[in-house]
Amino acid sequence: MSLLSKNYHIITYGCQMNEHDSENIAGMLEALDYSHTPNPEEADVVVMNTCSVREHADKRFFGMLGQFKKQKKNNPDFIICVCGCMPQQPHIVEEIRKSFSWVDIVFGTQTIAEFPNLLMERIRTGKKQFSIIANNEEIPEEKESKREFKHKALVNITYGCNNFCTYCIVPYTRGREKSRSLRAVKQEIINLVKDGVKEVMLLGQNVNSFRDADGNNFAALIRSLDEVEGLERIRFMTSHPKDLSDELIACFGDCKKLCHNIHLPVQSGSDEVLRRMNRHYNRQRYMEIVEKLRATCPDLSISTDIIVGFPGETEEDFLDTLSLVREVEYDSAFTFIYSPRVGTPAAKYDDQIPEKIKHDRFDRLVEDVNRCSAKKNSEYLGRIVTVLVDGPSKNDTGAWSGRTDTFKLVNFTSEEPLTEGQMVSVRITETKTFSLDGEKVDA
Ligand code: SAH
Ligand code: SF4
Ligand code: F3S
Repeated sequence: MSLLSKNYHIITYGCQMNEHDSENIAGMLEALDYSHTPNPEEADVVVMNTCSVREHADKRFFGMLGQFKKQKKNNPDFIICVCGCMPQQPHIVEEIRKSFSWVDIVFGTQTIAEFPNLLMERIRTGKKQFSIIANNEEIPEEKESKREFKHKALVNITYGCNNFCTYCIVPYTRGREKSRSLRAVKQEIINLVKDGVKEVMLLGQNVNSFRDADGNNFAALIRSLDEVEGLERIRFMTSHPKDLSDELIACFGDCKKLCHNIHLPVQSGSDEVLRRMNRHYNRQRYMEIVEKLRATCPDLSISTDIIVGFPGETEEDFLDTLSLVREVEYDSAFTFIYSPRVGTPAAKYDDQIPEKIKHDRFDRLVEDVNRCSAKKNSEYLGRIVTVLVDGPSKNDTGAWSGRTDTFKLVNFTSEEPLTEGQMVSVRITETKTFSLDGEKVDA
C-alpha cells in the first residue's frame, strides 16, 4: 500500500452471493489502481454491500452509515458507496436520499458492472450517482475478481430467484432467475484451477433449477465439472428441495469431486406452514429426499435453514419442526426468527406471532439443533479425515484450520509448517458442537 495510492474498504453483509459480488467490486477497484485497506478510516472509498433478508441486517447497516458521516466531515473527498440488496427496494433508496445525504453512490444488484463508471463520474463531477434497475435481463459476464482464498473460489451459476417464498425479499432484490451457460462456468473454473484453486462453491439461490440455453441441467453441470483436471472439490449452495432431482442424487454416488455435504433448507417441519410459505414440498417429500441422499451417500452431512414464528405458526406446528430436526439429525442448522419484510405477502398476514413466543421457540429450537450437531460431530472421534487447509486457526495461535469433505471445521496441530490449500490427513482427538479438534498424521 503506497501513501500516494488511493485506498478502498468493503463491508459485506448477507450471503455468499454478496461476498462474491464484493470480490468482483474489489477486482474493479484494483483495476482502477485502488489498494485494499483493512481500516475503513484510512479509506478514500468505502463500499457497503448490503443485505435485506431480515430486519436486523437493515438496522446494522443504517447504524454503520451514521458512523461514516463523521469521517465525511473530516475528509470531504471520502466517497461512500451503498450497493447490494437494500437499494433494490424503493423505500430504502428514498430513505437514503432523505436521511443519509452524505452517501455518494448508490447502485443495486443488477448494475454492479456500472460501478467503475459511477465512481469516475462522481469524482469528475462531484455529483451523487444513483443506478438501480429492478431486473437486468442480461446475464452478467464474470470479471476478474479478488478472491479471499487462493485455493477456494465462489462461482455464480445462476442469478436471481423465481420462487417467491412468501416470507422472502430475495426475488425482489435479485431479479428473475437466469442461468449462465455450462460452457462459461466450466471455462471460468478451468481458469481458476490454473490460478491455484482446488475447491469451488457453485452459487445460486436455487442451484437445482439451473438450466442453460443448451438444455444442460444442474446434474449435467456437476458431471461435466467432475472432469476438470486439477479441481479437487465441488460444493454448491443453495439447494431447494422442490427441484432436487434423482439425477442429482445419483451424482453423490458417482462424482468423485462432489463433496459429501448438502445444504438443504427445510424452513419448517409443518405441512401447513410449508404450504403458506409457498415452498412446494411437504414434510414427507423432504424426508424421502433425505433418505435417498443417505442411501446413495451414507456419510453425507446435511445442514439446513429453519424459520420459527412464521405468521400463524401454532405450538403444534413448531413441535413438528422440532421432531423433524430430531428425525433428520442435521449436522448443523441456521435458525432464524421470522422477520416481516416490506412488500412480501407474509408481512401482510394478520396472524403475526408475538415476539416473546418467537424468541421462546427460537431458544428451544437452538437447543435441539446444537444437541444434534454435537451428536453428529461425536461420530468423528478417532477417525482420520482429509482436510483442505485454509490457514492458521482463528482461535488458537499455532494451530491450523480447514474443512473436511463433509464441511466440518477442523482445528488441528501439525509438527511441520503447512500452507493454505494443502490436503492433509488429520486424526480427530476431540469433538465439539461446532468444530472438531485433531492432529496431523502422515497419510
Ligand atoms: N435461496 C435460499 C435461501 C436464501 S435466504 C433457499 O431458498 O434456501 C437464506 C435463509 O434466510 C432462508 O433459507 C431462510 O431460512 C431465511 N430467511 C429468508 N427470509 C427470511 C425472513 N423474512 N425472516 C427470517 N428468515 C428469513
Ligand atoms: Fe428466498 Fe425462497 Fe428464493 Fe430462497 S427460494 S431466495 S427462500 S424466495
Ligand atoms: Fe441478503 Fe440479498 Fe443475500 S437479501 S441473503 S444479500 S441475496
